[in-house]
Amino acid sequence: MENSIKRIGVFTSGGDAPGMNACIRAVVRTAIYEGKKVSGILHGYQGMIDKNIIAMDSRSVSNILQLGGTILKTARCLDFRTTEGRLKAYNNIKEEGIDALVAIGGDGTFTGAEVFSREFDIPVVGIPGTIDNDLYGSDFTLGYDTANNTVIDAIDKIRDTAASHDRLFFIEVMGRDSGCIALNCGIAGGAEAILLPEKETGIDELIQKLESAAKDKKSSTIVIVAEGDKNGGAYNVAKRVQEKFDFYDAKVTILGHLQRGGSPSSFDRVLASRLGFAAVKNLLRGQTRIMVGLRGNDIVTTSLEEALRSKEFKLAEDMIEMTNVLAI
Ligand code: F6P
Repeated sequence: MENSIKRIGVFTSGGDAPGMNACIRAVVRTAIYEGKKVSGILHGYQGMIDKNIIAMDSRSVSNILQLGGTILKTARCLDFRTTEGRLKAYNNIKEEGIDALVAIGGDGTFTGAEVFSREFDIPVVGIPGTIDNDLYGSDFTLGYDTANNTVIDAIDKIRDTAASHDRLFFIEVMGRDSGCIALNCGIAGGAEAILLPEKETGIDELIQKLESAAKDKKSSTIVIVAEGDKNGGAYNVAKRVQEKFDFYDAKVTILGHLQRGGSPSSFDRVLASRLGFAAVKNLLRGQTRIMVGLRGNDIVTTSLEEALRSKEFKLAEDMIEMTNVLAI
């Protein structure tokens, strides 16, 4: 298999994540070191369908290690969900001489990669790149650490002003289906309550917590609301709480897309480099339909199918219990 791959196509897809550029750099340079050619596919699957493909060399990835976003651009592509779209994509990449792919992205990216690879028998290795940290088979996804640092910085700043005014803040963080950022940053930021998509918290239960925080004379209270929490986002939660409980002057902050930008942390740069390197090595060893990931300090592989079991991903119960204890 090693000798049959001549040109590797690399692309980023879905939501961008800090560390994607460092990862592209690692993929391109490892492939070139191994004597292979590399093409960059722009705008993810959309670029395959539109034949938006560029040749890459070692110098085309100079000076990008430290940059947020993705130089290859990204998109969420509906056409790739159709058989016609995928056939067009396949014909285009074949015409460009691409005979193997490295896909950097999250669950949507891997769902597409898995189907495409089976349909056209093209080798694919996935790299987990999403701030959501919701892929089974890797302790961390690219961008998660940087996004956490961005969120903590924001929570700390909000805490300063909240404490000065004795205010209650509802801070909404990203994670449509994943509470990883909310839980982790809630703990690191000393939140009084954390609302997660994976665990329903009723408004009355939340009010009880807020009442006890007020009784205990807390000068500020922070509630972290994951975007995908079932109560419908921070504005809704704040409104419903204030209808019944008006002890505090309450404010809402939605952190939004600033969580996706910024220069990657050193952790994300190293992880990106290791995963990019491992992805190419595994492709050249004849592996396909796998994701490379980090378990402990080891780079491991998981089938794409298994990685997509993220839907059953469970947040650590002990961490959820701990947040309640440490908020007293
Ligand atoms: O998947 C990453 C993510 O940032 C989620 O946390 C969020 O729900 C979603 O992307 C937002 O996507 P978009 O930028 O397309 O609105």
